[in-house]
Amino acid sequence: MLRDLSDYPNDTIEAMFVRLANDTHADKIDLGIGVFRDDSGNVPVMQAVRRAERRLIGRDRSKSYLSPLGNIDYCRRVESLVLGADHPVLSGGRIVSAQTPGAGAALRAAAELVHGVSPGSAVWVSTPVWGHQIEFFEQAGMAVRTYRYYDRRGRNLDAEGMLEDLRSMRAGDVLLLHGCCHNPTGQDLSLDLWQAVAEVVVEVGAIPFVDVAYQGFGQGIEEDAEGVQRLAASVPEMLLTVSSSKSFGVYRDRAGLLSIILPPDSGNAGAVRRKLRDTLRQLYFMAPDHGAAIVHEILSTPELDALWRAELDAVRDRIIALRAELRMTIERANPGFDAGFIERQHGMFSCLPISHEEQLLMERQFHIYMLPPARVNVAAMNREQSRTLAEAFAWIRAQRGTARADAVA
Ligand SMILES: Cc1ncc(COP(=O)(O)O)c(C=O)c1O
Repeated sequence: MLRDLSDYPNDTIEAMFVRLANDTHADKIDLGIGVFRDDSGNVPVMQAVRRAERRLIGRDRSKSYLSPLGNIDYCRRVESLVLGADHPVLSGGRIVSAQTPGAGAALRAAAELVHGVSPGSAVWVSTPVWGHQIEFFEQAGMAVRTYRYYDRRGRNLDAEGMLEDLRSMRAGDVLLLHGCCHNPTGQDLSLDLWQAVAEVVVEVGAIPFVDVAYQGFGQGIEEDAEGVQRLAASVPEMLLTVSSSKSFGVYRDRAGLLSIILPPDSGNAGAVRRKLRDTLRQLYFMAPDHGAAIVHEILSTPELDALWRAELDAVRDRIIALRAELRMTIERANPGFDAGFIERQHGMFSCLPISHEEQLLMERQFHIYMLPPARVNVAAMNREQSRTLAEAFAWIRAQRGTARADAVA
């Protein structure tokens, strides 16, 4: 049956990871995968997570099935963490949620559900966007359209272009936004822009879909959720996905949330819940519980919650310090070049202003691996790697002539 599959290609992201794995250079630098690393290059496990795990084991919990909707107690806690406990959507009972095996599965399931109930709806994604997101929507059968988001030349948000493109959405289209720490650019919306987007969405009758994968990595646990909270309060309907992978460092335990926010007085929460349950069951049957149980244990135990918040604050402080360091080393190695965008942007990622060919050249010459479009995981670096990256960037600019390299869009 699979005889003809011999030349099945790698997608761009997987292809980079294959090249990285095959590179035998002792000091190769992995700035591709989206994990937080400490100074020794390890992906640390939070103490709050370790303690929560011990408490759970001590309780000798069941390993029987939950339902396809997963761990509902986890859902309640994460809804409050993201929307705020007093949010009108929660007090109005306007939310239907499931716990999923991470936000990746939540995104794929949401796409399946939307396409199933509204086959004519297109999804609008930013340019650029985390590549796997396009894949999730396309595989579900949805048409994918793009809106201007990041101005690579100015290394800033293209707010005007974004709003202009969003006015072309049609009623029932879905608008994908990143709640904070935009992947891959690190460039977030201002609160004014969240408001302007809410107005366009209401005007055209589109449905916003906010993906929150890095709460606490940008400006603060509460600050990073302010945009999504305001949007949820301003629109009748919304989709929400949340990843616990990064904020709790439980990447491989697979815990995420998929929520559907319903219009006031829609009266069909039961039917929506059943549709969601059946969509999830048809995709993967049941959710894993280990990661969700850990996150729930932390969020429902005041001392663990306080410990987790302090640990997440330390992660964010390190990322902010790494951003300042990278800006400085790049500017030092590239006199006259303004790397201020690296400090202005938030979370794990920023994109270097180099072309795809230059990114591949950097890979070959310096063994530095990034995802397209030259997405650097600042949160995975140490000081020495920061210096190597700055030198590599200077070398690339020297190869092509400073003016031209800086103008690459
Ligand atoms: C924006 C965004 N959404 C979702 C995900 C998927 O997260 P999870 O590990 O929870 O599936 C990622 C992971 O990198 C991401 O960057």
